[in-house]
Amino acid sequence: MKYFVIPLDITKEMDESGYCNVQGSTYRRLNQIHKVRRNRKIGNIPPVYPNGWFMLAESHQMKKNVPLQVTALGENFALFRGSDGQCHILDAYCPHLGANMAIGGRVVGDCIECPFHKWQFSGYDGKCTHIPYSDKVPKFAKVKRYKSLEVNDMIFVWYHAEDEEPTWVPDEIPEITSRKYFFRGRNEFKINAHIQEIPENGSDLWHFNALHGTNVIYGSDIAVNNSNNRFFNHEWASTWEPSSDPGMGHVGISKLLHHVNVFGIMFGIMDIDIRQIGPGYVELKFWTPLGRIVVLQSVTPVEPMIQKVVHRVYAPWQTALYATFMIIGESIMVERDIMIWNNKKYLERPLLAKEDKTLAQYRRWFTQFYSEHSPTYSSAKKSLEW
Ligand code: FES
Ligand SMILES: [Fe+2]
Repeated sequence: MKYFVIPLDITKEMDESGYCNVQGSTYRRLNQIHKVRRNRKIGNIPPVYPNGWFMLAESHQMKKNVPLQVTALGENFALFRGSDGQCHILDAYCPHLGANMAIGGRVVGDCIECPFHKWQFSGYDGKCTHIPYSDKVPKFAKVKRYKSLEVNDMIFVWYHAEDEEPTWVPDEIPEITSRKYFFRGRNEFKINAHIQEIPENGSDLWHFNALHGTNVIYGSDIAVNNSNNRFFNHEWASTWEPSSDPGMGHVGISKLLHHVNVFGIMFGIMDIDIRQIGPGYVELKFWTPLGRIVVLQSVTPVEPMIQKVVHRVYAPWQTALYATFMIIGESIMVERDIMIWNNKKYLERPLLAKEDKTLAQYRRWFTQFYSEHSPTYSSAKKSLEW
């Protein structure tokens, strides 16, 4: 009942979704999942960290005066909000002696103060501004600063393997910023897959009826719910294409029409307009019989083969309750995809039917996010202590 008012939060760790087929006590199950991961063939995957904007945190996770440590994209970041409210992202490691500034550090004005010897670094340019036991700060004392952006209650970092400047930014959604739409909840999943697999789902037109056709009430275990019940199922029709608008080459557009089929009678539940914006961010606008719902999806590579996926849902009062049920339903549907993603192999040259051409188009489109120095699976593995 409380979720009719309070936003819903469904957060699942990697062992909690997509491994429904692995049974047993917690210890046995974790062991078994570890084995499944070790024995899996991942295939000849593309570079593991594409160029683009990636969500590192949600605005509500940034506490006043407390830095936040986030590991993603092969880096450890220190996020903090300065006294003027501006959010900053610096490399977490202090250039003095290498302490992680987000672990035990504090915020002073628009600087982060390292806990080890209290050197302070500005969030605006990464320059050292203060050394408590020295009257001279060397000019070269500086930590790497990342371009960041706080929009739609999310904090993004710009990642580019060649250090190029951003050529696009995620757009602000006025209904969210003005609080005209209420935050209705979120879900969060950790997925054992290459990042490219997740947005590929939108261009994979034929998986919708196959995987998401069985009614949502049958749950997320695809081995159990693969019933193909034709009397009470979901019917999907979809399209995918790269945007042809000037300057919008980084956007992929899909449309999804959703009906529920009850004994052959079709009920229109919702139409969805989807904009895949770069490799790690998606805007989904749901048109329901009661009004609109906005869903924002972020995909962040935590490790080469671990993605953190978050959906945040906003709705006006008319669809607020509808949105709550939708978060539950969408979580079940995503978990069906996760069961595929967690176990699949990436095929560089998939065997496509003529009707699968949007998949090939999607893969061509996605190559724009890789560049000469994009880290590969083996180079990324070397940079962190595994
Ligand atoms: S290691 Fe950060 S101030 Fe010394
Ligand atoms: Fe899917």
